Amino acid sequence: MKHIISINKKIGCFKNTIEVEGDKSLSIRFILLSSLSNGKCTAKNLLRSEDVISAINSVKKLGIKIILKNNYCEVFGKGLKGYRYKKNLILDAGNSGTTARLLCAAIIDAYHNIKIIGDRSLNKRDMGRIIKPLSKFGAKFIDNKKKLPLFIKGPKILKPITYNENLGSAQCKSAVMIAALKTNGKTKIRSVPSRNHTELMFKNVLKIPIKIKKTKKSELIEINGSTEFKKFNYEIPGDISSASFFIVLTLLAKNSFLRIKKINVNPSRTGIIKILNKMGARIKILNKKNYKGEIIADIFVKSRSNLKPINLNPKLNSSAIDEFLLIFLVASKCNGISKFIKLSELNKKESRRLDWGIKILKMMNVKVIKVKDHGIKIWGKPDLKLNKKYIIKNFLKDHRIFMVSTIAALSLGGDWKIHNSDSFKTSFPSFLKTLKSLGAIIR
Ligand code: S3P
Repeated sequence: MKHIISINKKIGCFKNTIEVEGDKSLSIRFILLSSLSNGKCTAKNLLRSEDVISAINSVKKLGIKIILKNNYCEVFGKGLKGYRYKKNLILDAGNSGTTARLLCAAIIDAYHNIKIIGDRSLNKRDMGRIIKPLSKFGAKFIDNKKKLPLFIKGPKILKPITYNENLGSAQCKSAVMIAALKTNGKTKIRSVPSRNHTELMFKNVLKIPIKIKKTKKSELIEINGSTEFKKFNYEIPGDISSASFFIVLTLLAKNSFLRIKKINVNPSRTGIIKILNKMGARIKILNKKNYKGEIIADIFVKSRSNLKPINLNPKLNSSAIDEFLLIFLVASKCNGISKFIKLSELNKKESRRLDWGIKILKMMNVKVIKVKDHGIKIWGKPDLKLNKKYIIKNFLKDHRIFMVSTIAALSLGGDWKIHNSDSFKTSFPSFLKTLKSLGAIIR
C-alpha cells in the first residue's frame, strides 16, 4: 500500500456542490448513548471513520449488538445497567480522545478492572482531566502517569458530584454528564463554553429532564441520575470540521465557489465561519433548519483575494478548536499581521498542533513567532506563492495535519510529499475522493 501522496499542481477553478460525511462528535455520542438506551436505536448518515469504528467495537465488546448497513446503523441498547463486563476486558479507543474519555464515563459502574488502550498518539494525551472528576464519583483508576493505557473499576454505589469544567473541554463535560446518569442523585456541572451536543441530545433526543442555565461566562447543568431512557432514532448532519477544509480551499483558490450541503452549524462549532468572515471571507449560511436542537444548513463560500489579518478574541477559540491549522493557513495569505492567544489546548490534540502550525508555516517561509499566553503571530502576504519541495512526515498520523497540508499544497502550490496517506480516515474517509471530484490532482 502507498503511504505518501504527491501534489505538485494547484487546484484549478471549480464551481460545485458537495456533501461531507456525518459529524464525528455526534456519531460517537450516538453510539455510546444508544447503547445505554432501552431498545433498538437507529442512525442515518453515521460517520464510518476509524474513530467511530473504535467506539462501535468497544461498545460491542460490552455485549451490545450493533448492525451496520452502509451508513445506516442499528444499536440494540440494554439500558443504563446493560453492559456486560467480562474479566480481563480490553477496550481499544484507537486514535479517538472522545471515545476514550466518554467510554471511561459510560463504564464507570464496571465491576471488574477494565483496561482502556489507544494508539501511539492517544497514549500521549492527558487522561487526568477525566480521571479527576470520574474519581469523585467513586471510580478507581490504575493509570500510567494520567495517560493510557489505564484500568478503571467502579464502586458499589456511585455518588453524584459537583464539578467545575474550566478547560473548555466538551469531552470532560460530556464524560461527567454520562457518568451522572449512573448515579442515584443530582450532579451539578459549571462549565465554560464548549460544544454542547451532549446537552442537546440529553434534552431533545433522550428526553432526560436536565436543567441548563446559561450565564455570560458559563453554563450550569443539573442532571438527575438513574433516569432510564427509551430507544430513539437520529440522523447525523454533516461535520463542519470536515467541511472547513473545503471552505478554506475554496476561499484560497481562484474564481471558485462551493456549496456544502446539510452541515451542522451549531453555534458552538461555527467559530471558523465567524473568524474567516471577520478576515473578509463573506461565507454564507443558507436554508437553516432546526433538527432536535442542532441547526442544519448549507454553507456557501467564494474565493477571495483581499483577506484581512485578525487579532482574535480568544472567546472564539473553543468554537473553532479543531480548525486552527486552517485559520493559520488563511492568516498566511492576509495582508498584515494576525495574532492568536490562549491556544494551549491545541498542543493537547492528536499531535502538538500549535507547534505543527508554526513548523508548517516556517517551512512555507512565512514569518511566524510564538507570543506569550500560548499564542502566535503570523505575518501574512497576499502574494504568498510556494515553489519549493515540502515534505510533511512524523506527525503522529494526525488526520488534521495531513488534511491541512493537502489544502496548503492545492491552494498555494509547490511540490509536496505528504506521508501517512491513510491518516484522514480517522475522521473523513471521503476526503481525497471529494478533492478529486473538484479537479485536484493527487498521486
Ligand atoms: C470533541 C471535543 C473537542 C474536539 C474534539 C471532539 C467532542 O475536544 O477537539 O475533536 O466530540 O466532544 P475537547 O473537548 O477536549 O476540547
